[in-house]
Amino acid sequence: MTNSLRVRLLWWLLVPLAMYVFMTGKAAYDNARHTADLVQENTLLASARMIAGEVEWSDGRLLVDVPPSALEVFASPQGDQVFYNVSVDDGRLLAGAPDFPTRAADGHDAPNYYDADLHGKPIRAVGFVRQMYDNGAIRRVLVSVGKTQASRDAMVRELWRPQLVRQIEIVLLAVALACIGLTFELRPLLKVKEEVMDRDPMQLEPLRVERLHTELRPIVEAINQCIARLGLQVAAQRRFIADAAHQLRTPLTLLETQLQFARQHREMEPSLNEALAAMQRSNRSMVGLTNKLLLLAQAEAADYTQLAKQKVELCAIAQDVIEDLAMFAQKREIDLGADLTGSAWVIGHEGLLSALIYNVTENAIRYTQAGGHVTVAVARDERNVTLTVTDDGPGIPAEARSRVFEPFYRASADTEGTGLGLSIAKEIVQAHRGEIGLGTREHPERGVVVTVNFVRAL
Ligand SMILES: Nc1ncnc2c1ncn2[C@@H]1O[C@H](COP(=O)(O)OP(=O)(O)O)[C@@H](O)[C@H]1O
Ligand SMILES: [Mg+2]
Repeated sequence: MTNSLRVRLLWWLLVPLAMYVFMTGKAAYDNARHTADLVQENTLLASARMIAGEVEWSDGRLLVDVPPSALEVFASPQGDQVFYNVSVDDGRLLAGAPDFPTRAADGHDAPNYYDADLHGKPIRAVGFVRQMYDNGAIRRVLVSVGKTQASRDAMVRELWRPQLVRQIEIVLLAVALACIGLTFELRPLLKVKEEVMDRDPMQLEPLRVERLHTELRPIVEAINQCIARLGLQVAAQRRFIADAAHQLRTPLTLLETQLQFARQHREMEPSLNEALAAMQRSNRSMVGLTNKLLLLAQAEAADYTQLAKQKVELCAIAQDVIEDLAMFAQKREIDLGADLTGSAWVIGHEGLLSALIYNVTENAIRYTQAGGHVTVAVARDERNVTLTVTDDGPGIPAEARSRVFEPFYRASADTEGTGLGLSIAKEIVQAHRGEIGLGTREHPERGVVVTVNFVRAL
């Protein structure tokens, strides 16, 4: 059987209903038959009595003149055939069909109803006895009237059908209402499904249970417990990365100092100089990576409800970042410009927002060819504050665009980098409930425009 809750519940409703309809339908049919039989028997008896009333003595003989009205009572659209037979107990036939299967009640003179066959047709018949007295003699005259069953069957149908139709209508109505009700009542469950589907992978708040049915609550509460355990696990893992990065920094700093010291004393062994320089470069990139890992862990752990307590001004932060990067831009012969007029307040963490602007702007400078232009702009409208970083470099190929936000993904392997810059940027933006997107400059169509939207803090 299907596993659909809706179908199964409907099934549970339909089977008892069908049984109910069957039983009431059968009772209605029995009732209709009983009523039609009663009506038919009453008419048969009335007709027999009428005929019996016409039996009379004439010159010591019994005679009968069957009145037409005695047979007219049976007139019906179904055109039933009517038979009768009037015979005396001495065996004489006074009128009617000689082969009529007569049957008097044994021992008493009450009307006797019975089923019989005449000319191959089933009939319902009555035998009615009238006693005739003459000069002390008693004659028993048996009047039998029978008819075929067409009008009686029609009556049964007429009595029964409307009831059956009504029952079926009620069942259909019940099913329709049940379907509507089920759709309605299953909605909270589907809502839970949507809520789960719409979640970000790292959204680990519990699902809401207030508006759920009592039966569903335990399920959702169990899911919530599972989410909570997952949350603890994730937090532990993040703490681990942060701790590891933190721990790495000390020995790396130490190593840097030792390398510097070794290079200062290179006169002793000139051939070592090159190796030391290479070691120093890899040490520096390790320091860079460790810092970025730490930043990523911080960004991932950032909680909006904590951040919401602080208001910061984005133009000032951007200005500081531009000053930090001015040297780097000059070295790469990039014209680094800014469009930061007025003030733009947002809710957030100054250090993280600074790292966000730094990473995006650093990318723009790093990946744009010498002589290129990079512009950092902050704009605001009624509701939003928008940061854009525009460059006129080579741009990012379409197939790489969806992946550059993944940790450790790099589209240009020939340059220095970790592949963490944009993942950090994305984590920071998400922690601030903002949106980050990539575009291309329109005139001329080249380069990258990174757009970040925040809700404006008033
Ligand atoms: N402004 C840009 N112009 C061209 N390519 C870019 C730009 N910004 C990012 N990218 C591409 O996206 C990749 C991912 O960037 P990012 O996450 O900052 O890592 P990283 O800079 O360390 O390589 C980069 O390797 C680079 O190929
Ligand atoms: Mg980068």
